[in-house]
Amino acid sequence: MPKPASRPKICDYEGSNYRTEFWEGKSRQYEDLVERAVLHRMLPNSGQRLLEIGAGFGRLTQEYHMYEQIVLLDYSLSQLQYAREQLGTSSRFVYVAADVYRLPFRPGVFDGATMIRVIHHMADVPSALRAIRRVLAPNAIFILEHANKRNLKAILRYALKRQQWNPYDLTPVEFVELNFDFHPEYVVQELKAAQFAPQERVPVSFFRLNVLKNRLPTNLLVGLDNVMQQSGLLYSPSIFVKSAATEDGVNNLNTDALFVCPETGAELKREGDTLISQANGLRWAIRDGIYDFKAPLDDAG
Ligand SMILES: C[S@@+](CC[C@H](N)C(=O)[O-])C[C@H]1O[C@@H](n2cnc3c(N)ncnc32)[C@H](O)[C@@H]1O
Repeated sequence: MPKPASRPKICDYEGSNYRTEFWEGKSRQYEDLVERAVLHRMLPNSGQRLLEIGAGFGRLTQEYHMYEQIVLLDYSLSQLQYAREQLGTSSRFVYVAADVYRLPFRPGVFDGATMIRVIHHMADVPSALRAIRRVLAPNAIFILEHANKRNLKAILRYALKRQQWNPYDLTPVEFVELNFDFHPEYVVQELKAAQFAPQERVPVSFFRLNVLKNRLPTNLLVGLDNVMQQSGLLYSPSIFVKSAATEDGVNNLNTDALFVCPETGAELKREGDTLISQANGLRWAIRDGIYDFKAPLDDAG
Protein backbone atom coordinates (compact mmCIF):
# COMPACT_ATOMS: atom_id res chain seq x y z
CA MET A 1 0.00 0.00 0.00
CA PRO A 2 1.39 3.45 -0.84
CA LYS A 3 1.83 5.66 2.21
CA PRO A 4 -0.86 8.36 2.54
CA ALA A 5 0.50 11.79 1.66
CA SER A 6 0.97 14.13 4.62
CA ARG A 7 -2.33 15.76 5.49
CA PRO A 8 -3.19 19.25 6.62
CA LYS A 9 -3.84 19.59 10.34
CA ILE A 10 -7.47 19.65 11.47
CA CYS A 11 -8.98 21.99 14.03
CA ASP A 12 -10.75 19.35 16.05
CA TYR A 13 -14.01 20.35 17.78
CA GLU A 14 -14.56 16.88 19.23
CA GLY A 15 -16.16 17.24 22.65
CA SER A 16 -15.92 21.06 22.50
CA ASN A 17 -18.50 23.31 24.13
CA TYR A 18 -18.78 25.44 20.97
CA ARG A 19 -22.57 25.68 21.18
CA THR A 20 -22.92 26.48 24.86
CA GLU A 21 -19.82 28.66 25.20
CA PHE A 22 -19.56 30.46 21.87
CA TRP A 23 -23.21 30.89 20.89
CA GLU A 24 -25.35 30.53 23.99
CA GLY A 25 -22.89 31.70 26.65
CA LYS A 26 -22.02 34.92 24.80
CA SER A 27 -24.48 37.36 23.27
CA ARG A 28 -24.07 36.43 19.64
CA GLN A 29 -27.69 36.75 18.56
CA TYR A 30 -26.71 39.63 16.28
CA GLU A 31 -24.10 37.55 14.40
CA ASP A 32 -26.49 34.63 14.16
CA LEU A 33 -29.31 36.75 12.72
CA VAL A 34 -27.22 38.61 10.14
CA GLU A 35 -25.78 35.32 8.88
CA ARG A 36 -29.26 33.87 8.49
CA ALA A 37 -30.40 37.00 6.63
CA VAL A 38 -27.64 36.80 4.03
CA LEU A 39 -28.12 33.06 3.59
CA HIS A 40 -31.82 33.64 3.07
CA ARG A 41 -31.05 36.02 0.21
CA MET A 42 -28.39 33.86 -1.41
CA LEU A 43 -30.09 30.47 -1.30
CA PRO A 44 -32.15 29.30 -4.29
CA ASN A 45 -35.89 28.58 -4.06
CA SER A 46 -35.40 24.85 -4.39
CA GLY A 47 -32.68 22.24 -4.65
CA GLN A 48 -32.05 18.52 -4.39
CA ARG A 49 -29.10 17.67 -2.20
CA LEU A 50 -27.06 20.16 -0.19
CA LEU A 51 -23.75 19.47 1.51
CA GLU A 52 -23.36 21.50 4.70
CA ILE A 53 -19.62 21.46 5.29
CA GLY A 54 -18.53 21.87 8.90
CA ALA A 55 -22.17 21.81 9.95
CA GLY A 56 -21.20 21.76 13.64
CA PHE A 57 -24.23 21.28 15.89
CA GLY A 58 -26.62 22.19 13.05
CA ARG A 59 -27.08 25.84 14.01
CA LEU A 60 -27.95 26.86 10.43
CA THR A 61 -29.31 23.61 9.00
CA GLN A 62 -32.96 24.66 9.14
CA GLU A 63 -32.15 27.54 6.77
CA TYR A 64 -31.62 24.96 4.03
CA HIS A 65 -35.24 23.75 4.12
CA MET A 66 -35.67 24.23 0.34
CA TYR A 67 -33.36 21.26 -0.32
CA GLU A 68 -34.85 17.78 -0.47
CA GLN A 69 -31.89 16.30 1.34
CA ILE A 70 -29.21 17.89 3.52
CA VAL A 71 -25.95 16.13 4.29
CA LEU A 72 -24.43 17.48 7.48
CA LEU A 73 -20.69 16.88 7.41
CA ASP A 74 -18.38 17.62 10.29
CA TYR A 75 -15.15 16.21 11.68
CA SER A 76 -16.64 16.16 15.17
CA LEU A 77 -18.92 13.27 16.07
CA SER A 78 -20.16 15.01 19.21
CA GLN A 79 -21.31 18.09 17.23
CA LEU A 80 -23.18 15.81 14.82
CA GLN A 81 -24.73 13.82 17.65
CA TYR A 82 -26.22 17.00 19.06
CA ALA A 83 -27.44 18.03 15.59
CA ARG A 84 -29.11 14.65 15.14
CA GLU A 85 -30.83 14.94 18.52
CA GLN A 86 -32.28 18.28 17.40
CA LEU A 87 -33.07 17.57 13.75
CA GLY A 88 -34.11 13.96 14.06
CA THR A 89 -33.60 10.78 12.11
CA SER A 90 -35.62 11.51 8.96
CA SER A 91 -33.86 10.49 5.74
CA ARG A 92 -33.90 14.18 4.76
CA PHE A 93 -30.89 14.59 7.01
CA VAL A 94 -27.74 12.54 6.55
CA TYR A 95 -25.02 12.87 9.18
CA VAL A 96 -21.43 12.27 8.11
CA ALA A 97 -18.30 12.51 10.24
CA ALA A 98 -15.44 13.12 7.83
CA ASP A 99 -12.63 15.46 6.88
CA VAL A 100 -13.23 18.22 4.31
CA TYR A 101 -9.94 17.38 2.61
CA ARG A 102 -11.04 13.76 2.08
CA LEU A 103 -14.72 13.85 1.30
CA PRO A 104 -16.25 10.35 1.09
CA PHE A 105 -18.66 11.11 -1.78
CA ARG A 106 -18.91 10.26 -5.45
CA PRO A 107 -18.13 13.09 -7.85
CA GLY A 108 -20.90 15.54 -8.68
CA VAL A 109 -23.56 14.26 -6.28
CA PHE A 110 -24.51 17.63 -4.75
CA ASP A 111 -26.27 20.56 -6.40
CA GLY A 112 -25.46 22.85 -3.49
CA ALA A 113 -22.96 23.31 -0.67
CA THR A 114 -22.41 25.76 2.15
CA MET A 115 -19.40 26.31 4.37
CA ILE A 116 -19.98 28.86 7.10
CA ARG A 117 -17.35 29.72 9.75
CA VAL A 118 -15.20 26.78 8.70
CA ILE A 119 -12.63 27.83 6.13
CA HIS A 120 -10.86 29.95 8.75
CA HIS A 121 -9.68 26.59 10.14
CA MET A 122 -8.22 25.43 6.81
CA ALA A 123 -4.44 25.42 6.55
CA ASP A 124 -4.68 24.28 2.92
CA VAL A 125 -7.43 26.28 1.23
CA PRO A 126 -6.65 25.13 -2.36
CA SER A 127 -6.95 21.44 -1.37
CA ALA A 128 -10.18 22.01 0.57
CA LEU A 129 -11.78 23.89 -2.34
CA ARG A 130 -10.69 21.27 -4.87
CA ALA A 131 -12.19 18.53 -2.68
CA ILE A 132 -15.48 20.42 -2.47
CA ARG A 133 -15.59 21.14 -6.19
CA ARG A 134 -15.11 17.44 -6.96
CA VAL A 135 -18.37 16.46 -5.26
CA LEU A 136 -20.44 19.28 -6.81
CA ALA A 137 -22.34 18.96 -10.08
CA PRO A 138 -21.67 21.58 -12.78
CA ASN A 139 -23.62 24.78 -11.98
CA ALA A 140 -24.13 23.72 -8.36
CA ILE A 141 -24.05 26.69 -6.01
CA PHE A 142 -21.49 27.06 -3.26
CA ILE A 143 -21.98 29.59 -0.45
CA LEU A 144 -18.77 30.23 1.45
CA GLU A 145 -18.31 32.45 4.48
CA HIS A 146 -14.81 33.59 5.35
CA ALA A 147 -13.18 35.78 7.96
CA ASN A 148 -11.90 38.97 6.31
CA LYS A 149 -8.37 40.13 7.08
CA ARG A 150 -9.04 43.48 5.35
CA ASN A 151 -11.59 44.58 7.94
CA LEU A 152 -11.94 48.09 9.37
CA LYS A 153 -10.47 47.21 12.76
CA ALA A 154 -7.39 45.58 11.19
CA ILE A 155 -6.92 48.55 8.84
CA LEU A 156 -7.05 50.98 11.76
CA ARG A 157 -4.72 48.94 13.96
CA TYR A 158 -2.25 48.61 11.09
CA ALA A 159 -2.36 52.35 10.41
CA LEU A 160 -1.70 53.04 14.11
CA LYS A 161 1.14 50.49 14.07
CA ARG A 162 -0.60 48.32 16.65
CA GLN A 163 -0.60 45.34 14.33
CA GLN A 164 2.30 43.97 12.32
CA TRP A 165 0.54 42.08 9.54
CA ASN A 166 -0.65 44.01 6.55
CA PRO A 167 -4.43 43.76 5.97
CA TYR A 168 -3.96 44.61 2.27
CA ASP A 169 -1.56 41.75 1.61
CA LEU A 170 -3.18 38.73 -0.06
CA THR A 171 -1.42 36.10 2.06
CA PRO A 172 -3.67 34.52 4.71
CA VAL A 173 -2.80 35.46 8.28
CA GLU A 174 -2.81 32.79 11.00
CA PHE A 175 -3.57 34.84 14.10
CA VAL A 176 -3.91 31.78 16.36
CA GLU A 177 -2.89 28.23 15.42
CA LEU A 178 -5.34 26.94 12.77
CA ASN A 179 -7.31 30.20 12.75
CA PHE A 180 -6.87 32.23 9.57
CA ASP A 181 -8.18 35.52 8.22
CA PHE A 182 -8.30 35.85 4.44
CA HIS A 183 -8.13 38.74 2.02
CA PRO A 184 -11.32 38.86 -0.11
CA GLU A 185 -9.29 38.80 -3.34
CA TYR A 186 -7.30 35.78 -2.19
CA VAL A 187 -10.53 33.87 -1.66
CA VAL A 188 -11.82 34.79 -5.11
CA GLN A 189 -8.49 33.81 -6.67
CA GLU A 190 -8.55 30.39 -4.97
CA LEU A 191 -12.21 29.81 -5.83
CA LYS A 192 -11.46 30.44 -9.50
CA ALA A 193 -8.41 28.16 -9.38
CA ALA A 194 -10.67 25.39 -8.03
CA GLN A 195 -13.13 25.83 -10.93
CA PHE A 196 -15.71 28.00 -9.22
CA ALA A 197 -17.23 31.13 -10.73
CA PRO A 198 -17.82 33.69 -7.96
CA GLN A 199 -21.10 35.53 -8.57
CA GLU A 200 -21.84 37.65 -5.54
CA ARG A 201 -20.01 38.87 -2.43
CA VAL A 202 -21.76 40.26 0.62
CA PRO A 203 -20.00 41.93 3.57
CA VAL A 204 -21.56 40.88 6.88
CA SER A 205 -21.39 41.66 10.61
CA PHE A 206 -20.22 45.29 10.47
CA PHE A 207 -21.40 45.95 14.04
CA ARG A 208 -19.68 43.05 15.74
CA LEU A 209 -18.53 45.17 18.67
CA ASN A 210 -19.53 44.58 22.30
CA VAL A 211 -19.80 48.30 22.89
CA LEU A 212 -22.59 48.48 20.28
CA LYS A 213 -24.19 45.11 21.00
CA ASN A 214 -24.46 45.93 24.71
CA ARG A 215 -26.08 49.32 24.13
CA LEU A 216 -28.28 49.05 21.05
CA PRO A 217 -31.25 46.75 20.38
CA THR A 218 -30.25 43.67 18.37
CA ASN A 219 -33.00 44.27 15.80
CA LEU A 220 -31.67 47.75 15.11
CA LEU A 221 -28.14 46.43 14.53
CA VAL A 222 -29.45 43.62 12.32
CA GLY A 223 -31.45 46.16 10.27
CA LEU A 224 -28.40 48.43 9.91
CA ASP A 225 -26.27 45.48 8.92
CA ASN A 226 -28.80 44.52 6.26
CA VAL A 227 -28.38 48.01 4.79
CA MET A 228 -24.59 47.72 4.90
CA GLN A 229 -24.76 44.28 3.28
CA GLN A 230 -26.09 45.95 0.14
CA SER A 231 -23.21 48.46 0.12
CA GLY A 232 -20.66 46.08 -1.37
CA LEU A 233 -18.01 47.50 1.02
CA LEU A 234 -15.83 44.46 1.67
CA TYR A 235 -14.37 45.77 4.95
CA SER A 236 -16.53 43.83 7.43
CA PRO A 237 -15.15 41.03 9.62
CA SER A 238 -17.02 38.39 7.64
CA ILE A 239 -17.79 37.95 3.94
CA PHE A 240 -20.20 35.61 2.20
CA VAL A 241 -19.30 34.55 -1.37
CA LYS A 242 -21.78 32.82 -3.62
CA SER A 243 -20.22 30.87 -6.50
CA ALA A 244 -21.28 28.40 -9.14
CA ALA A 245 -19.34 25.27 -9.94
CA THR A 246 -18.14 25.76 -13.50
CA GLU A 247 -18.82 23.29 -16.29
CA ASP A 248 -15.17 22.35 -16.66
CA GLY A 249 -14.73 20.98 -13.16
CA VAL A 250 -11.34 19.71 -12.08
CA ASN A 251 -13.03 16.37 -11.82
CA ASN A 252 -13.56 16.22 -15.58
CA LEU A 253 -9.84 16.64 -16.17
CA ASN A 254 -8.80 13.84 -13.85
CA THR A 255 -7.89 11.15 -16.35
CA ASP A 256 -8.20 8.26 -13.91
CA ALA A 257 -11.80 9.28 -13.22
CA LEU A 258 -12.60 8.65 -16.89
CA PHE A 259 -12.68 4.92 -16.47
CA VAL A 260 -14.95 2.24 -15.06
CA CYS A 261 -14.29 -1.50 -14.89
CA PRO A 262 -15.07 -2.89 -18.39
CA GLU A 263 -16.33 -6.14 -16.84
CA THR A 264 -18.70 -4.75 -14.21
CA GLY A 265 -19.01 -1.00 -14.73
CA ALA A 266 -17.79 -0.45 -11.15
CA GLU A 267 -15.67 2.55 -10.13
CA LEU A 268 -11.91 2.17 -10.27
CA LYS A 269 -9.35 3.38 -7.78
CA ARG A 270 -5.73 4.07 -8.71
CA GLU A 271 -2.92 2.43 -6.79
CA GLY A 272 0.50 3.09 -8.29
CA ASP A 273 0.36 1.90 -11.90
CA THR A 274 -2.81 -0.10 -11.38
CA LEU A 275 -6.51 0.71 -11.46
CA ILE A 276 -8.48 -1.49 -9.09
CA SER A 277 -12.22 -2.17 -9.25
CA GLN A 278 -13.91 -1.08 -6.03
CA ALA A 279 -16.49 -3.83 -6.44
CA ASN A 280 -14.59 -7.05 -7.14
CA GLY A 281 -10.90 -6.21 -6.92
CA LEU A 282 -10.16 -6.76 -10.63
CA ARG A 283 -6.94 -4.93 -11.49
CA TRP A 284 -6.00 -3.16 -14.71
CA ALA A 285 -2.51 -2.11 -15.65
CA ILE A 286 -1.18 1.25 -16.81
CA ARG A 287 1.84 0.24 -18.90
CA ASP A 288 4.23 2.84 -20.30
CA GLY A 289 1.50 5.45 -20.06
CA ILE A 290 -1.13 3.23 -21.73
CA TYR A 291 -4.26 2.25 -19.85
CA ASP A 292 -4.50 -1.46 -20.69
CA PHE A 293 -8.08 -2.76 -20.48
CA LYS A 294 -7.57 -5.73 -22.83
CA ALA A 295 -7.49 -8.17 -19.92
CA PRO A 296 -7.29 -7.79 -16.13
CA LEU A 297 -4.06 -8.54 -14.36
CA ASP A 298 -3.92 -11.93 -12.75
CA ASP A 299 -2.93 -12.12 -9.09
CA ALA A 300 0.73 -12.37 -9.96
CA GLY A 301 0.37 -9.01 -11.78
C1 LIG B 1 -16.76 27.37 14.06
S1 LIG B 1 -17.56 25.83 13.78
C2 LIG B 1 -18.85 26.27 12.65
C3 LIG B 1 -20.04 25.37 12.71
C4 LIG B 1 -21.24 25.82 11.85
N1 LIG B 1 -20.91 25.94 10.44
C5 LIG B 1 -21.79 27.11 12.36
O1 LIG B 1 -21.60 28.16 11.71
O2 LIG B 1 -22.42 27.11 13.43
C6 LIG B 1 -16.38 25.01 12.73
C7 LIG B 1 -16.74 23.56 12.45
O3 LIG B 1 -15.88 23.07 11.42
C8 LIG B 1 -15.53 21.73 11.71
N2 LIG B 1 -14.27 21.41 11.04
C9 LIG B 1 -13.06 22.00 11.20
N3 LIG B 1 -12.15 21.42 10.40
C10 LIG B 1 -12.78 20.45 9.71
C11 LIG B 1 -12.38 19.49 8.73
N4 LIG B 1 -11.13 19.43 8.29
N5 LIG B 1 -13.31 18.64 8.24
C12 LIG B 1 -14.60 18.69 8.67
N6 LIG B 1 -15.04 19.58 9.60
C13 LIG B 1 -14.15 20.44 10.11
C14 LIG B 1 -15.41 21.71 13.23
O4 LIG B 1 -15.54 20.39 13.75
C15 LIG B 1 -16.54 22.64 13.66
O5 LIG B 1 -17.73 21.95 13.93
